[in-house]
Amino acid sequence: MKLICLTLLIISGITDSRSEQYEVVGAAGPVLAVAGEDVILPCSVKPSISVVDMRVEWFRLDLRDSQLVHLYEDHVDKNTDQIQSYRERTELDHQELQRGDASLKLSSVRVSDEGLYKCFIQSRSWFDDATVNVSVEAVGRPPVITVDGFDHSGGLHLQCESGGWNPEPDLEWLNSEGVRLSSGTTEKHRNTDGFSVKHTVTVYERDSKIHCRFKLKHHMLETLIITTSPVLAVAGEDVILPCSVKPSISVVDMRVEWFRLDLRDSLVHLYDDHVDKNTDQIQSYRGRTELIHQELQRGDASLKLSSVRVSDEGLYKCFIQSRSWYDDATVNVSVEAGGRPPVITVDGFDHSGGLHLQCESGGWNPEPDLEWLNSEGVRLSSETTEKHRNTDGFSVKHTVTVYERVSKIHCRFRLKHHMLETLIITTSNY
Ligand SMILES: *[C@@H]1O[C@H](CO)[C@@H](O)[C@H](O)[C@H]1NC(C)=O
Ligand SMILES: *[C@@H]1O[C@H](CO)[C@@H](O)[C@H](O)[C@H]1NC(C)=O
Repeated sequence: MKLICLTLLIISGITDSRSEQYEVVGAAGPVLAVAGEDVILPCSVKPSISVVDMRVEWFRLDLRDSQLVHLYEDHVDKNTDQIQSYRERTELDHQELQRGDASLKLSSVRVSDEGLYKCFIQSRSWFDDATVNVSVEAVGRPPVITVDGFDHSGGLHLQCESGGWNPEPDLEWLNSEGVRLSSGTTEKHRNTDGFSVKHTVTVYERDSKIHCRFKLKHHMLETLIITTSPVLAVAGEDVILPCSVKPSISVVDMRVEWFRLDLRDSLVHLYDDHVDKNTDQIQSYRGRTELIHQELQRGDASLKLSSVRVSDEGLYKCFIQSRSWYDDATVNVSVEAGGRPPVITVDGFDHSGGLHLQCESGGWNPEPDLEWLNSEGVRLSSETTEKHRNTDGFSVKHTVTVYERVSKIHCRFRLKHHMLETLIITTSNY
């Protein structure tokens, strides 16, 4: 009985090695995967004999250091040396191995999965491999448009940015009529989550909707900005209040008057008979306004206002008058002022061991958000709030009671583009 068995084994071994000449077949073309979804990387042997007893190795051809994506050997998956980013995301269907199919299921596809894969299948007496080229399409994050300011000629600088795209997306700017605007500068870089792209554009249209559109073959994301947004000035810096005539004829021989719509004795700047006449100008604007006389030739009467103050916030009118005609435009100026560093004062303890703190800061515009945070970044709720406004902006005072010992308490004043923070350390020495 023993002898017969042994003979049978030898015969079957010989038969095996003869029939074990096979070809490994991958995908005909590149495999397209979508980020976040699953994908099958095809690989099988021809003729379709079982590969259950063979070694199946999937690896990346295009990576330098570690390359192993999935290893099946001695009837089990052995993924201890697998590339870290593939952990728990690869699967070989063991039932399909019997039918000669060693396709790899890859879950939750990432941009970094894009590349060349090799499927290598080895029996005792033979081996072959196939290459699979995987492309990943990733739709990035919604584009964000930022206003970067105005220039002398009244052009509005916009910037549009979005990341997480693969392959590199097309970005286009469109105006209300759907006409493509040409980008100024382009910046792009690539990291593991895909391409980030930033374009700038200068827009001369007022009252227009400007679209920023990111596009791939099958996907599109778009953001819109409406250019009537007020002029944002920063306290202490200079700002240009845009105003020009259309068509752009020279206004050198005309009268240009800038005034505040919301104040009574309201002259901000007067240009008349070819000279600036600012004797009746509002006192607080003295020495801070400038019309660029060269630009007047090109129809541009934009006003440069230096060292912006909170009191400059308001509605301005630009009035341009020739001998036979006049027209005006309104410019709404908002001023953002990051105030003085907040000051925390200790107001004492109460019976239950609570520490009373008060935090105060002034010189902010518009009204800032104030928040208290503990060491863990958890927001503490303010008890009382006081605020008042004067010519240099908003002053705000909040109080809080803290029961934590040995903690850092932060008091944070915030505006859209400004933040100031002060810290107090409470210790248990009481
Ligand atoms: C892989 O596919 C991509 C996209 O189709 C192609 O651009 C690239 O050249 C291919 N790489 C190889 C090595 O075939
Ligand atoms: C001016 O802009 C501010 C800030 O955006 C806005 O609150 C205000 O309503 C605007 N005023 C006018 C008259 O458009």
